[in-house]
Amino acid sequence: MLKVENIDVYYGAIHALKGVSLEVKEGEIVTLIGANGAGKSTSLQTISGLIRQKRGKIMFSGRDISFSPAQEIVRMGISQVPEGRRIFANLSVRENLEMGAYLQKGKEGLKKTLEKVYEKFPRLRERLNQRAGTLSGGEQQMLAMGRALMAQPKLLLLDEPSMGLAPILVKEIFSIIKEINEAGTTILLVEQNAKMALSIANRAYVLETGRIVTSGPAQELAESEQIKKAYLGG
Ligand SMILES: Nc1ncnc2c1ncn2[C@@H]1O[C@H](COP(=O)(O)OP(=O)(O)O)[C@@H](O)[C@H]1O
Ligand SMILES: [Mg+2]
Repeated sequence: MLKVENIDVYYGAIHALKGVSLEVKEGEIVTLIGANGAGKSTSLQTISGLIRQKRGKIMFSGRDISFSPAQEIVRMGISQVPEGRRIFANLSVRENLEMGAYLQKGKEGLKKTLEKVYEKFPRLRERLNQRAGTLSGGEQQMLAMGRALMAQPKLLLLDEPSMGLAPILVKEIFSIIKEINEAGTTILLVEQNAKMALSIANRAYVLETGRIVTSGPAQELAESEQIKKAYLGG
């Protein structure tokens, strides 16, 4: 479904991604784990077309999207939930969700999609008219995910959904991610919380200072001594 081939990304003189290749097959949850600064967010933003690679190619559903504008990439079926959520604090929950559906035509379609999102996140329904900035961290993460789902993506890119959340909420968010996947959306999940990410993913890639150093079935990586030492706290 998604194939990233050998991409190099720079921020001025900083070489942030060095020949990164990865693949996500339809129906999978794939996780990209790595320490702070490894290049995880840069990878997602390059896939979304928000940052341009200098070399390499990105294919999605058989099409070369290496140079497609970000809006076109959303239209083709890739939505991103950015690190830190980036919800519109001064808008209501409902307005935030509607923002996610800006490509959708027709009121009926919008209503149906909203209904689906409320089913997944009943807490958002209870808070429809609440100002998004007053939501708790976990609710804001749900809103950011709900907003991305409003575009009805085939592939959902999640950037550190567990960041700053209490363990019980992390569990809840991860179980929702699994549900979203089981309902038919393919997922590329970026996480510093390697343990949780590996527990729900099919396959994983490990990123270290801009390079993929390991990849394989998530369960295998979770059991690897090397990975345990470096990413799972022994
Ligand atoms: N806008 C930017 N300008 C310059 N350097 C950046 C910028 N964004 C990220 N970087 C650098 O690129 C590298 C990868 O960052 P990032 O993709 O945010 O890592 P991660 O998401 O894994 O924490 C880091 O060294 C970071 O400092
Ligand atoms: Mg990041």
